[in-house]
Amino acid sequence: MAENDVLVEMRGIVKDFPGVRALNGVDFQLRKGEVHVLVGENGAGKSTLVKILAGVYGLDQGTIVLNGRQTHVHGPAHAQDIGIAIVYQEPNLVPHLTVAQNISVRHEPLRGGFLVDVRQENERAQEILNRLKLDIDPSVPLGQLSLGQQQMVSFARALSLKPHVLILDEPTSSLAQREIEQMFAAIREIKAEGVGIIYISHRLEELFQIGDRITVLRDGQHIQTMHLKDTDLNTIIRMMVGRDISEMYPREAVTPGQEALRLEGITRKGVCHDINIVARHGEIVGLFGLVGAGRSEMARIVFGLDPRDSGAVYRDGRRVSHLSPDAAARMGLGFVTEDRKREGLCMVLPVRQNVVRASLDRLFPHWLISPGRERQVAHKYIAELSIATPSSERAVAYLSGGNQQKVVLAQWLCAGSDMLILDEPTRGIDVGTKVEIYRMMNRLTQQGTSILMISSELPEVMGMSDRLYVMCRGRITGEYSRGEATAERIVACAFGTQEVRHGEA
Ligand SMILES: Nc1ncnc2c1ncn2[C@@H]1O[C@H](COP(=O)(O)OP(=O)(O)O)[C@@H](O)[C@H]1O
Ligand SMILES: [Mg+2]
Repeated sequence: MAENDVLVEMRGIVKDFPGVRALNGVDFQLRKGEVHVLVGENGAGKSTLVKILAGVYGLDQGTIVLNGRQTHVHGPAHAQDIGIAIVYQEPNLVPHLTVAQNISVRHEPLRGGFLVDVRQENERAQEILNRLKLDIDPSVPLGQLSLGQQQMVSFARALSLKPHVLILDEPTSSLAQREIEQMFAAIREIKAEGVGIIYISHRLEELFQIGDRITVLRDGQHIQTMHLKDTDLNTIIRMMVGRDISEMYPREAVTPGQEALRLEGITRKGVCHDINIVARHGEIVGLFGLVGAGRSEMARIVFGLDPRDSGAVYRDGRRVSHLSPDAAARMGLGFVTEDRKREGLCMVLPVRQNVVRASLDRLFPHWLISPGRERQVAHKYIAELSIATPSSERAVAYLSGGNQQKVVLAQWLCAGSDMLILDEPTRGIDVGTKVEIYRMMNRLTQQGTSILMISSELPEVMGMSDRLYVMCRGRITGEYSRGEATAERIVACAFGTQEVRHGEA
C-alpha cells in the first residue's frame, strides 16, 4: 500500500497514570480502508492508546500525525470534528434520552438555528438503523433496550458521524451473534469507502474474520505489527502473554476411560437441536461457540434446570430417567455456572459455608451441622486448590474473581462430583490464576474426573481440550480431536459457515 494511504501515525507514545506507565513508547499506524486490530491482555494499554487518539487523554510524550500533518487532539469534541469517532468499551450513552437523541447528541439537526427538530432527528436515526438492519424504534428511551442493542446504538451513533477513523473498543462483548454479523457487515462497507478502523477485541476468534493487520501490545509496549494473513493464533497468543503456549495451557496427555456422560438428541425448541455429546472419564471436552449459541442453555437442561422436548442423558452408561438438580447432584454431576456471583456462590457467607453448601446431606446426614467439621473440610480445599483467603471465615465477596471461582469448584469437589460442566471457567480472571485453574483441571482429570468445558475463548478451548465440539445457533456444527482442530476450522463452524463434519446438519 502506498505511503499516502496512511491515515494515522502515532509515534513513541508515552502515557503515565499515577503509579503506572500505561504506554511506554508505542508506535501505531492506521491506513485508509484497513481494519487494524489491537490485542493484548487486560491492562496492556489498548484502551489508553485509542483514548489518546480520541482526545480523552493527553499524552506525555510522542506525536500523532493525521493525514500527514502533526496534530494535537485537544479533546473528544475536537477529535469528532477532525473525523475520529470512538465506541467505548464502557457504555457512555444517556439511558433516559431516546435512541434518536443519543445518536444525534452534539450533532442534532437544528430548526430555526437552535431548536432540535425531533421529527428530522428520528428520521435520520431511522435511516442509520435501517442501514444497519436494526429493528429498533428511534423514539424509545435507550434504557429500555438490551445491553447488546444499546451497544449497537453506540455503533450507529459513531457511524452517523461519518468518521475517517473509527475506533471500536471491545464492541462485541455484549452482542448476540446476529448483531455481531450486522456490525461486521457495516464495518466491511465503510472499510470499502476508505475509512480506517481500529478494532480492539479480546475475542481472538473474531480477528481473522474482520482484521487486515494486527498489533500486539504487552505491558504498555508495542510487541509486533503483522498482516493477519501472515500469522496464526498461536503466534499472536505467544506475543500477548509473553510466554509459551505450553506454559499457558498446560494440558497433559491422558488416556480417556469409560463414558461418563452422554447426551443423545437433546432438543428444546428455539434453544438447542439434536445435541449429541460424549465425555469420558479423564477427558476434557471443550464446547466452543459464540455467545448465544445455546451452550449454557443445553447445560441447564442436563441439570434439570430447564425442560427439554426430547433427548436423553446417560450417566456412566445408564439412562437417567428424570432430570433434576437433585438427581444431578446424586449422580455426581457438578455445574460451575457462568455467573458465579449470582448462581454459584453466596457472597455474604464465609468460604467455609460456601465450600460445603452442596454437601450438607452427605457431611451431616442427621442435620446436625458442625461448624468445626465444616472448617476442617474447608481447610482441606483451601490447601488443595490454593485458595487465597486469610481464613475460612472470610466472606467470599472479599476474594478475587479467580479465588471465588476456586471456591465454586471446591463446592463440587466436596460434593464428590466426578463429572463437571464448567461454563466459562476463567472469564474475568487474571492470567496467573487462569493457569492455576488449568492445572487443577489437569489434576482432576488425572483422578478420573470428566470435564465438559464451555468456553468462548478459542485459545483456551484449543489449548485445554482433548476433544472439542462447536455449537452454532443451537446445533453442533463441528467435532474435532485435539490434533485436527485449527482456529480457522473452529471459527468457521462457530459462525455456521462451514459444513457439518459429524452429527447432523
Ligand atoms: N484512568 C486511569 N487512571 C489510572 N490508571 C489507568 C487509567 N486507565 C488505565 N489505567 C492503567 O493503565 C494500564 C493500561 O490500561 P488500559 O489501557 O485500560 O488497558 P487495556 O485496555 O489493554 O486492558 C493499566 O495498568 C490500567 O490500570
Ligand atoms: Mg480496555
